[in-house]
Amino acid sequence: MDVLFNNAGIAGVGAVHEIEEDTWDKVVNVNLKGVYLPSKYVIPHMMERRQGSIINMSSCVAEIGLQRRSVYAATKGAVLALTKSMQVDYAPYQIRVNALLPGTILTPFVEGYLRSAYDNPDEALNTIKSRQLSEQLGTPEDVANAALFLASDDSKFILGSPLYVDGGAVFGKMA
Ligand SMILES: NC(=O)c1ccc[n+]([C@@H]2O[C@H](COP(=O)([O-])OP(=O)(O)OC[C@H]3O[C@@H](n4cnc5c(N)ncnc54)[C@H](O)[C@@H]3O)[C@@H](O)[C@H]2O)c1
Repeated sequence: MDVLFNNAGIAGVGAVHEIEEDTWDKVVNVNLKGVYLPSKYVIPHMMERRQGSIINMSSCVAEIGLQRRSVYAATKGAVLALTKSMQVDYAPYQIRVNALLPGTILTPFVEGYLRSAYDNPDEALNTIKSRQLSEQLGTPEDVANAALFLASDDSKFILGSPLYVDGGAVFGKMA
């Protein structure tokens, strides 16, 4: 196996005081343990072959706050920290470990939480768009192209890095 893309994730909408404990545990299990477990079983094969690229799905929410995304943000921040730690451990085996940090990408995931988290999904969509300098949502292809880049040797000098695919959401608003 040359490439492992730990992409599965769920949203778990809610502020800390709103989230039930079983939802908290489920989001942590899917978003964080869901990176650990596949990695645990794939990495030994990569170590044997002394090559591999692992891509962990974080989110720009790891860097910026977002309303009612407490456990989601916590897991995505943890994935970013885990990515850096994994890179230190596996660089000696020529395995690269990087993270993707998308902004808002129009997928069923976003359509679902727009419906579940907001009274007015259209208004919420416009607010989310305005957070990104692009003023548009990203597409699944935007993220897929970034993942392909990290999977390929074109990114061979990129180790332990966050790659932002966020329409300027993180750095654009800091100026
Ligand atoms: N869409 C966005 O705006 C956005 C932004 C930043 C990060 N992300 C991250 O990108 C990743 C993909 O999200 P998406 O927008 O394509 O969402 P999506 O809901 O369209 O896809 C999520 C995928 O994860 C899979 N999945 C969920 N729980 C699983 C489990 N327990 N075991 C195995 N597979 C499971 C689902 O089957 C689905 O294929 C997620 O980690 C998400 O947090 C999405």
